[in-house]
Amino acid sequence: MKADDYVKSAVRDFEDKPGKTLWIPLPASKRVKRLLVLGSSKGPISAADFRKIIQAATVQLKSAQFRSATLDLEAFSVADQDGYQTTRLATAIISAGLYRFDAPKQDEQPPSRLNRIVLHVDGRSRASAARAVRHANALDAGMAFARDLGNQPPNVCNPTYLARQARSLARAEKTSCKVIDERQIEALGMGAFMSVTRGSDTPGKLIIVEYRGGKRGEPPIALIGKGITFDTGGISLKPGPAMDEMKFDMCGAAAVLGCARAVIDAKLPLNLVAVVAAAENMPSGKASRPGDVVTTLSGQTVEILNTDAEGRLVLCDAITYTERYKPKVVIDVATLTGACIIALGSHASGLFANDDALANDLLKAGDFIGDRAWRLPVWEDYQSALKSNFADMANIGGREAGAVTAACFLARFTRKLRWAHLDVAGSAFSGGAAKGASGRPVPLLFQYVLDQA
Ligand code: BES
Ligand code: MN
Ligand code: ZN
Repeated sequence: MKADDYVKSAVRDFEDKPGKTLWIPLPASKRVKRLLVLGSSKGPISAADFRKIIQAATVQLKSAQFRSATLDLEAFSVADQDGYQTTRLATAIISAGLYRFDAPKQDEQPPSRLNRIVLHVDGRSRASAARAVRHANALDAGMAFARDLGNQPPNVCNPTYLARQARSLARAEKTSCKVIDERQIEALGMGAFMSVTRGSDTPGKLIIVEYRGGKRGEPPIALIGKGITFDTGGISLKPGPAMDEMKFDMCGAAAVLGCARAVIDAKLPLNLVAVVAAAENMPSGKASRPGDVVTTLSGQTVEILNTDAEGRLVLCDAITYTERYKPKVVIDVATLTGACIIALGSHASGLFANDDALANDLLKAGDFIGDRAWRLPVWEDYQSALKSNFADMANIGGREAGAVTAACFLARFTRKLRWAHLDVAGSAFSGGAAKGASGRPVPLLFQYVLDQA
């Protein structure tokens, strides 16, 4: 039988649909050992179908025992996408799918041997494909970095560890890192941050990575990440079940460091500052009590009615601190509320903003790269929920609209800024059998920054 006929007969009963795959072993003499046939739809394929197709291919690649694979991108024409976009999308899906956390397990599977994927593209789109691969590789490195940080156990990934990881980023060109310790945090007047970190024997840190790829004096994009390396709830202690998942409460911090990593790797021509508010929320004799009143760096006072609403307490002071960079925009990222998971589940991150153009740019970036957000309001109408009889505000609202009132709390510290807030409580990690960090919203953030560059 001729090779063509052989392949033809092999695919005869194949169900040609996105997500279906078929391996065809080729004769030993061939340079190509095996052919993976990918089911598709007819005509120009939708981005969603293309995603499904590449995801299915990745599942096959992950378990296969070979070093190199070639993907024929020429075979696909994706509706409304040019070569750059198709290549970006394909490489993003493959690299995210091939991620594996190196867990300390005795029966851990050896890592896949695959270390090279060749993309076959039309000669005319070579330059844009190369650019797409460069961007995709940078994003991949940033996402893997964020996922690794998230997946580390909380006895390893504490504020000191986050500071060390941030310092490692600063070995790159045009990058520096500054770590502010508790003594300075206290001296600066960050009473809200201190009220969270004081209960822990592991000292908190404010970690700042500065990347200067742009012109001198050009205002930076500022990213701020919630880095609670473990959230017990403090004196307002959380219930036991699934409390281990509160190691993921630093995924906002992981995402801003991951995005910084991608921006540094891609050598983007702009200025970026990533600020991480790193602390552990523990119950102890030094921990805050419900009813405590603290003074924030902004001068506003807060009555702590629930010590489990700690994210906003570290973030408000980090936001005020960031004002000194006179940033173009400020985007904070936080696993902030369980209420956001109730509102949106895990498909979309919650987006809040005091600036429509910024909000739309973020939504567009997320749509493009398949890491979507959905905007929720931060209307003044909700502010009354934070009323306190004993301070400028309480740190919690009522039962209603918990994700919104949390954002409204932060909004009180961003009056002078173009600001957006991403609540990633649902999107940054999964629980249950697939427990692990997702690396979101690094793709959204990186795409946003890329669009600005
Ligand atoms: N880190 C949690 C939010 C969270 C919950 C993230 C579940 C991911 C999964 C946050 O610090 C918290 O405890 N929020 C409280 C706020 C409440 C006390 C107003 C919450 O959502 O219950
Ligand atoms: Mn909490
Ligand atoms: Zn928390």
